[in-house]
Amino acid sequence: MGYGVCGGQMTLTGKKIILGVTGSIAAYKAVELLRELTKAGASVLVAMTESAQRFVAPLTFATLSRQEVMTDLFARDDEATIRHVAAPHGADLFLVAPATADSIAKFAQGRADDLLSALFLACTRPIVLAPAMDAAMYRHPAVQANLTRLRTWGVRVVGPATGELASGVWGPGRLAEIADIMQTVTELLCPKSDLSGEVVLITAGPTRERLDPVRFLSTRASGKMGYALAEEAVARGAKTILVSGPSDLTPPQGVEIIRVETALQMRAAALDRLAEATVVIKAAAVSDYRPAHPAESKLTKRDAPLTLELVPNPDILHEIGAQKGTRIIVGFAAETSDVVRRAEQKLKKKNLDLIVANDVSQAEGGFESETNQVVLLDPEGGVDALPLLPKREVARRILDRVVSLRHEKQGGRVEG
Ligand code: CTP
Repeated sequence: MGYGVCGGQMTLTGKKIILGVTGSIAAYKAVELLRELTKAGASVLVAMTESAQRFVAPLTFATLSRQEVMTDLFARDDEATIRHVAAPHGADLFLVAPATADSIAKFAQGRADDLLSALFLACTRPIVLAPAMDAAMYRHPAVQANLTRLRTWGVRVVGPATGELASGVWGPGRLAEIADIMQTVTELLCPKSDLSGEVVLITAGPTRERLDPVRFLSTRASGKMGYALAEEAVARGAKTILVSGPSDLTPPQGVEIIRVETALQMRAAALDRLAEATVVIKAAAVSDYRPAHPAESKLTKRDAPLTLELVPNPDILHEIGAQKGTRIIVGFAAETSDVVRRAEQKLKKKNLDLIVANDVSQAEGGFESETNQVVLLDPEGGVDALPLLPKREVARRILDRVVSLRHEKQGGRVEG
């Protein structure tokens, strides 16, 4: 089995992984997983729950990993450091495979009453879980809610696969294929550079339209989605330009930031850099109107109602769509009702390759939250409803689509 190369080396050379094994019949498959991880060059420290040790002896893992296996929450190593706290700091990734319903519940509750849950809490590096359990257990709302919670914290969940389970029942609950687990681990530890050569222009945040020197009209937006896209794009090798409306967020390293305030400034900045952009992603929540006559000095209070005259702002994305060329153009649609139909209309009207439809009326999938629940729509009628995910993960999925769109466009050119 091969998982590609990373910087010209064996995929996981020099990477330190903690492999947590919990008490499922699939624990024997963790032995094969350990072999694949070490074959790919990783150094693996295995940690087992008590029940896992009933399925496979720690000696098996110790022999194959050439390291002592962690089994005890209270064990100290030679330097008298507590291993469950010290170990995650030296590791690049924490992988739990198989992860039982019980271990998933403990992680989701933030418990720390056994070795693995303590390791989970102490870990600041990427965490991957590969659940394995009976189908009915996996489908139970308690397990589903726990997995959703863990995903929103950034934990990557691989599988489970569907097939015949230990009970003889057919359904979801089998440990994911070892190749799929390896693929996820490799992706996290060896970032892709599949956007190198692309220049990605992203707009983010709100715009502010001045009424007077102390007041403005604006849109609700934190910029988190656009900043997450910029972070992911630069990590994947793209030259990344971020045109940002007012936001408190720190721009990701390596990203060129252009700060703007109004929709007109955002338009000017985006059009100014359009010639070099090969991908445009408009995540900004642009104010559709601006005051027709902003006051030079502060408006004073009167006893009569005040009527504001507003004029429409230009639709930046519409203008960009009209001069698309070979660019890939991605828009967002913030909706509060009839989400998919309205987003489809915007996709067509603005000549986009992809639109990210977002129901902003939902508390956890809206403007200021850390997570987002979106539907990706394409001009061919493709509808991909993503689960509630951290914004960085949503960004990853959007850029995965950008990469496939690029392949399709290039394929089309070669054939044409
Ligand atoms: N957009 C833009 N310029 C504007 C308004 C919107 O570039 N003046 C972009 C947004 O950045 C987003 C997409 O167009 O990518 C859709 O924005 P949205 O606010 O959902 O829709 P609108 O086109 O403004 O339509 P409406 O407000 O009527 O829903």
